[in-house]
Amino acid sequence: MSNTVVQDVNALLADYTVLYQKLRNYHWNVTGPFFFGLHQQFETMYTEMAVTIDDLAERVLAAGGRPLSTLKEQLAAAHLKEDSDQPDAMGMVGNIVEDLQTLETSLRAAQNRAAEAGDETTETMLQDLANTQQKTIWMMKAFLG
Ligand SMILES: [Fe+2]
Repeated sequence: MSNTVVQDVNALLADYTVLYQKLRNYHWNVTGPFFFGLHQQFETMYTEMAVTIDDLAERVLAAGGRPLSTLKEQLAAAHLKEDSDQPDAMGMVGNIVEDLQTLETSLRAAQNRAAEAGDETTETMLQDLANTQQKTIWMMKAFLG
């Protein structure tokens, strides 16, 4: 894995970590008529992301790199931002859609750079993740109407 690809995968690891915590935040703090659906949906998403985060970190390790392992390093490397506000339920879903779209763009760019570097394993992994994000974005947008 080239240095560029290691950097890309580490930045994705950081973004997924920020989004993971945002989903936990929203799982805990969502209120209103959509509580049951969103409380469950956010949990489903962060549970899947915990696996993704581990896969990305171990991809870096398998390639001889060092995964960003502290919150400080991850916050510095992430493109996504934490949410210090308390949005309402629809606002939460809107924020998650925006973050997923940013993530999908980063995934596709990193996938292309992995392909250019001849790193098929990383390319395939990132492509699968981007396709998963794309489907989730559609579902979250359908919820927003
Ligand atoms: Fe819970």
